[in-house]
Amino acid sequence: MAGFDAVSRHAEELRAQLHHHNHRYYVLDDPEITDAEYDRLFRELQALETEHPELRTPDSPTQRVGGAPSERFASIEHRVRMLSIENAKDAQAMRAFDARIRKDLGADRIDYVAEPKLDGLAISLLYEDGVLTRGATRGDGSVGEDVSAQVRTIGAVPLRLQGEGWPRVLEVRGEVFLPIADFERLKARMLDAGQTPFKNPRNAAAGSLRQLDPAVTASRPLTMFCYGFGVVEGGDVGATHMDALTAFRGWGLRVSSESRLVTGIEGCLDYHQAIGERRDSLDYEIDGVVFKVNDLAAQEHLGFRARNPIWVIAYKYPPREEQTRVRAIEFQVGRTGAVTPVARLEPVDVAGVTVSNATLHNIDEVWRKDVRAGDTVIVRRAGDVIPEVVGVVESLRPPGTEPVSLPAQCPVCGSDVIRAEGEAVARCSGGLICAAQRKEALKHFASRRAMDIDGLGDKLIEQLVDENLVHDPADLYRLGVEDFAALERMGAKSARNLVEALERSRATTLARFIYAVGIREVGEATAGALAAHFGDLRPLMAARKSDFIRCGVAGIGPKTAESLFERLRARPEDAPAADRPLADWLAGLGIRGLGSDTAKRIAERYPDSAALLEAGEDGLVGGARSVVDGVGPVVAAHIVTFFAQPHNRAVIDKLLAPDVGGIHWPGPVASDASPNAEPAPLSGKTVVMTGTLSRSRDDIKQRLEALGAKVTGSVSGKTDYLLAGDDAGSKLDKAQALGVSVIDEQQLAILSQGAYVIQAG
Ligand code: IVH
Repeated sequence: MAGFDAVSRHAEELRAQLHHHNHRYYVLDDPEITDAEYDRLFRELQALETEHPELRTPDSPTQRVGGAPSERFASIEHRVRMLSIENAKDAQAMRAFDARIRKDLGADRIDYVAEPKLDGLAISLLYEDGVLTRGATRGDGSVGEDVSAQVRTIGAVPLRLQGEGWPRVLEVRGEVFLPIADFERLKARMLDAGQTPFKNPRNAAAGSLRQLDPAVTASRPLTMFCYGFGVVEGGDVGATHMDALTAFRGWGLRVSSESRLVTGIEGCLDYHQAIGERRDSLDYEIDGVVFKVNDLAAQEHLGFRARNPIWVIAYKYPPREEQTRVRAIEFQVGRTGAVTPVARLEPVDVAGVTVSNATLHNIDEVWRKDVRAGDTVIVRRAGDVIPEVVGVVESLRPPGTEPVSLPAQCPVCGSDVIRAEGEAVARCSGGLICAAQRKEALKHFASRRAMDIDGLGDKLIEQLVDENLVHDPADLYRLGVEDFAALERMGAKSARNLVEALERSRATTLARFIYAVGIREVGEATAGALAAHFGDLRPLMAARKSDFIRCGVAGIGPKTAESLFERLRARPEDAPAADRPLADWLAGLGIRGLGSDTAKRIAERYPDSAALLEAGEDGLVGGARSVVDGVGPVVAAHIVTFFAQPHNRAVIDKLLAPDVGGIHWPGPVASDASPNAEPAPLSGKTVVMTGTLSRSRDDIKQRLEALGAKVTGSVSGKTDYLLAGDDAGSKLDKAQALGVSVIDEQQLAILSQGAYVIQAG
């Protein structure tokens, strides 16, 4: 037994490692270790702290989400007021600002620090002796709200400062925000859940941080950039603003990598223009650039008036939201038949781009916002995301407008539009009869990450469908150079290239093909998981829903299941004869956790011991579980329905027929393995599993088999490895007694040369 000092040192070491990796991941955006390895360290520390609660420190990485929901936020008085910034709307206002500063300071040229002006929520972080002790919102500038528990959940906020030289008391200020991509995902999640989504990343950041329950904040991918300071005692942050930013970085705080020292007004204007040109490609929203006098003594000399410091200005960009009028609301039909309302707008310039269409997501959204043809609306455009209608300016609604209704028939093919109960999306029931769906399905099929048919662009696909040359993807492979050359804007050379590209696309991977056929909600990652799990297309096509989802018997844990199966496998002759009720026999085994009620439930599911053996341990453990990553009950139903449709089966047959599509992939087993791959890493090895693992037993078994291993149920002299998870049972003792190598999933990942991936979470 290690002494307490050793345990305490180990905990400290783990905390230091976790702080380090957290910083690499959230602040530097440059992780050194896998998520799984991070989780392992995290769990190790958690276990130590559970065993020795006295080792738990407030700055421990395990203490990010701890606080209980509160009734309301406590007030916090800012010792140094959190002021706001004067805005400049054009270069002339900027020049006036610079002239004023030069005059006040009696200097010819001023050094400024330029920083993107993020559109989020201003936050103050208080570090005392390097430890985060408080987080507060700006509030009215003098009094804010205590959001300590919420702020702690943000990965980019260090719970303690790194390095050295920080002042004893340091109040860091910065902006908490949500990157655009995370905002879009959050919005989609909220829409799916029937909630009213946030209007823009700013509202989303504010709404996520000002959550009384810190667990909700933790579930939102907030991050933070630090750009200033308030109280500083017992030390300093340097002589210039740039010194302060550099020091912040060294202390593990996240600072925008776009911050720059610029000289004079020209330097300011150049920076503003350069970032403005990149505004659409930044992964967060900015609404301007903040310029600050670099020299801190000069800042002090300049001071402030009313609400704004004199040494800082925000040069704004044109807003991302504009007002325009809706000419009409039309419905577009997508690949899966989704009928999506689109607003046709009077063209309007939104931050440099002309917007004439905006999405309305789904009919519920149209009704919720009550958007009508003739309305004046606010449209928003951010980055590369499709512009959307944010809301209606109701005071400007003309008389005689009508609420929008969902069309009963598909605007493209006239088939019925159906909206399944509980679903937000309405769909055209025409399937591939519908030209719109055909076009979208073909575009998806040909796309780079699917069959990657170079040169088969959207316009061409539309022509092929409109001229009735192509009804399904298999038809593409029937067309020759002359067919393509006869199309508009197609030369003989492009036609030849296209035929060659089609030829090349025939050699693909199973994962790509599964993705390409376009099963609802089967994206690339799920297609890859399906390919790895099933190894070939036919078994996937034949799969039933129960092959994707395992339902166990409520009340049975992995240990009980393991003990039972050890008994069943060790002495199959003990199993009850057909005339003896299974339930009685099970209850009579005297296995812990297997009483008569549980035994009865097992017997209801499995008629005899043979059926039970076939179901395996995993068929017994309670709760519904996915067998394949990303395939829950809904996706499983989509897959089964897709392959049940005769039309889809016929198209697949044609695509695979050597004389038609001729599509093929190396296989079976690993989807992306090359045909001449080296022998599988676990080839010839016998593996047994025990304890709680990161995936279901069935799943791991499939993966081990794909790696060449033979998986058996009990440990013997022939066993090469025992794969042991937490709470390993008696198999572990046996393996140790027999000298069998015991490995965990981490070691399996290494043994398999990375082919085995541990499931996070
Ligand atoms: S400095 C006294 N720097 O803009 C100066 N603010 O309109 C205090 N903001 O409340 C703020 N990016 O929420 C500063 N790089 C940046 C900023 C920034 C965004 C926000 C902040 C502030 C608001 C003022």
